[in-house]
Amino acid sequence: MEEVIKNLKVMYTEEQIQERIKELAKEIDNDYIGKELIIISVLKGAIFFTVDLVKRINIPMSIEMMQVSSYQGTQSTGNVILKRGLDIDISGKDVLIVEDIIDTGYTLQYLKEYLQTLNPNSLKIAVLADKKERRKIDVKIDYTGFEIENKFIVGYGFDIDQKYRNLPYIGYIEE
Ligand code: IMP
Ligand code: MG
Repeated sequence: MEEVIKNLKVMYTEEQIQERIKELAKEIDNDYIGKELIIISVLKGAIFFTVDLVKRINIPMSIEMMQVSSYQGTQSTGNVILKRGLDIDISGKDVLIVEDIIDTGYTLQYLKEYLQTLNPNSLKIAVLADKKERRKIDVKIDYTGFEIENKFIVGYGFDIDQKYRNLPYIGYIEE
């Protein structure tokens, strides 16, 4: 772990992250005028992004949490498990999934399919980061913070085996 941290470089600073989130919040406000939004934050990685995003959103909204897991170490397994479901009814509601990153797409595909069975009025997805190059399944993303290269990122919610989420910036590991 010590060595990993030695090769850590900054990809996006705190300021850059906040600026981009402000823009995303504005887009969301414009797209949902006159509506009420249920934000589903995907634990744990997306909590940082969710908190900063919702502070900038002005339309009426509530926050729910779900937890799935698919990742071990730095490899996506494609094996998504629901660890924590919803305890509210989303049928007929406008729902926005807020996730930290889309990589292979397995996690968001699973969540989207699952939530769709609960009959929301609308279902959209916001991600802070998109590693397009790595996609295995095509999932439509409605709001993207940053399109990033195929680098493993840490900080601002992104972890390696649960560590480094608390870094205030997004860093990447130089190989
Ligand atoms: P997917 O199912 O392959 O799209 O992966 C999504 C999940 O993988 C995310 O929710 C993250 O938890 C994790 N992930 C993917 N890339 C990274 C990364 O670069 N750093 C930290 N976690 C990542
Ligand atoms: Mg995650």
